[in-house]
Amino acid sequence: MAATDAAWARLQKAGEAARQRRILDLFAAEPGRLDRLAADACGLRLDLSKQPWSLGDFDAALDLARVAEIEAARDRLFAGETVNASENRAALHMALRAPDGADWRDRGVPVSGEVEAVRAQMKAFAQAVESGAKRGVSGEPFKAIVHIGIGGSDLGPRLIWEALRPLNPKIEIRFAANVDPSELAFALAGLEPAETLVVVVSKTFTTQETLANAEAARAWLRDALGPAADAHLVAVSAAPTVAQAFGVPADQVFGFWDWVGGRYSVWSAVGLSCAVALGWAAFEELLAGGAAMDAHFRAAPLEANLPVRLALAHLFNRNILSRPIRAVIPYAQRLRLFPAFLQQLEMESNGKRVTEAGAPVARATAASVFGDAGTNGQHAFFQALHQGTDVVPVDFVAVAEPREGDPAAHVKLLANVIAQAEALMVGRSAGEVREELTAKGASAEEIERLVPQRTFPGDRPSGFILMQALTPRTLGALIALHEHKVFVEGVLWGINSFDQWGVELGKALASRILPELEGKASNPHDPSTADLIGRLKSK
Ligand code: F6P
Repeated sequence: MAATDAAWARLQKAGEAARQRRILDLFAAEPGRLDRLAADACGLRLDLSKQPWSLGDFDAALDLARVAEIEAARDRLFAGETVNASENRAALHMALRAPDGADWRDRGVPVSGEVEAVRAQMKAFAQAVESGAKRGVSGEPFKAIVHIGIGGSDLGPRLIWEALRPLNPKIEIRFAANVDPSELAFALAGLEPAETLVVVVSKTFTTQETLANAEAARAWLRDALGPAADAHLVAVSAAPTVAQAFGVPADQVFGFWDWVGGRYSVWSAVGLSCAVALGWAAFEELLAGGAAMDAHFRAAPLEANLPVRLALAHLFNRNILSRPIRAVIPYAQRLRLFPAFLQQLEMESNGKRVTEAGAPVARATAASVFGDAGTNGQHAFFQALHQGTDVVPVDFVAVAEPREGDPAAHVKLLANVIAQAEALMVGRSAGEVREELTAKGASAEEIERLVPQRTFPGDRPSGFILMQALTPRTLGALIALHEHKVFVEGVLWGINSFDQWGVELGKALASRILPELEGKASNPHDPSTADLIGRLKSK
């Protein structure tokens, strides 16, 4: 403990110096900076040289990781020990993407056999649907999947589908997560029940939103196809008997386990819709990309370890320079849902205020994450990133090779992402603005009036993830990189990254308020809450 406190203190001290210098100057002062702060693994290049740390700070951060025994914690995670103490669970999502023949254990109990059995069930189902061997009750091949689930049962599959979907899919996926009936209405609009599979994904099979949507989708199927319609239902759940009781045929229930956290579950049967609509080979490649990142995280020394590096860069901004927000901007339309995926991964995992032992945390935890696809974000919130009063570190994600459309447009996209990272760091000085305005023939009075408006402070940090190509494999690596990054942060903060008690209170209160809105109950509330209930309850 004393050693970690000392390492934190050294890093805090480094922060004082970081406030007094500019990132750009570090490139001149530190030969070899780029080489040390950029690293490659699993088809990803992670450049952290535009972060505010010096090479000495980077070493101090690595030292913190070392004395905090990240490697031992990582080994406990991979060994299937109880890393989620408040729920008495291991966290073994890595077992889901390991190739056949592996030997993963949940607190000593082998799990790989079951994992492989469900994977074989998924493969057979995906191939049967894709080939048309498996058809709807009236003999039609399936052309659409309505994927119903929320949170971790939605965000991963949605991201993967958007990222990898073919331009003209043979089978398309529509998603419904929100209990707002509008989303399901749009998901079902224009679909033929006879050609549609409804895949209900819920680890618990108790989630209000998912059950409401599942009931409505089942009614939509039954209205059109009669009682045989339940053959179009598929379920993915760690509570298979509840799914069967809902009406899902037993051979269409795909299991998973309590050691798979919702936000880490896309590698399990939760990804079934994607496995069907993208094809089994693509899904296997996604798993292989995740497994490659696992192998890297497990074996690479801390200084070359991408998840460790990314965690330390984020921690330097969050804890040492007190920056509570981070923007994530994928310059790839196909990755536009990546920020939303990361919001759950990071904020549900690490948005904690007490340690595993129940004591208040010593430091700020998860930053708030937001973002949108570039270049769109440039025309929305980048003004604040460049000239706002708060420094918001940005993580850029770019893809070197174009995928579809005009390759020249892709080059424009790349020009923009490089330019934004450069602009944030370099800025534009008052002198440069004056020169530019003078060259344009502006009057002295006009120049002085405009200089403060057109000056960019610069020195705004960013990280850059460059993917050579957006493939199932690199996407798998990108997701797993962030999963492990979150784990490393959790260890450094001393929190449990795998529970989510903070989502429970709102759920409980919603169940209490629902009968009040339906006019069936009345409970005491504060005046504001009581007013809202009064205004919105069914008359
Ligand atoms: O939002 C809370 C949460 O429990 C998430 O952790 C989870 O991903 C989501 O709800 C959905 O849960 P389930 O898969 O059990 O329906």
